[in-house]
Amino acid sequence: MKNCTKLALATVSFLVGAAISQAAPAAENWENHCQKCHGATGKADTKTGKKLKIRDYSDAAVQGQLKDDEMLKAIADGVKNDAGKEVMKGYKDELSQEEMSDLVTFIRKLKA
Ligand code: HEC
Repeated sequence: MKNCTKLALATVSFLVGAAISQAAPAAENWENHCQKCHGATGKADTKTGKKLKIRDYSDAAVQGQLKDDEMLKAIADGVKNDAGKEVMKGYKDELSQEEMSDLVTFIRKLKA
């Protein structure tokens, strides 16, 4: 009986843990992987963001230029500038498909 209670508790804490870790992944991934270039609120108001002249993703006009499938492709495969130089790496080896599409949703919500 004692073991049974332990197992039940372990199961509950596992499920709660899984629910919590799924609740905030996009914000967490953004902070860990994207913020240094794109800024906390997508304005690219960081040193690297300014240097790379990254667009302000909180700007409705910029959001209008972005297409969900192209955003997803950029996150997965990275972005090259006109000279063919990689300015953003691809994240498909680090992030799951779900995490990447959650990031697209996250970016859409940055619109001011
Ligand atoms: C080393 C800096 C850097 C990092 C880190 C970075 N990006 Fe970018 N990203 C860029 C640059 C540069 C561009 C192209 C310029 C622009 O969009 O204004 C870009 C473009 C994009 C675009 C627009 C693609 C399109 O459709 O035009 C999206 C979406 C994007 N990044 C998402 C992300 C996400 C999500 C992360 C984190 C997982 C991330 N970026 C991390 C530099 C970075």
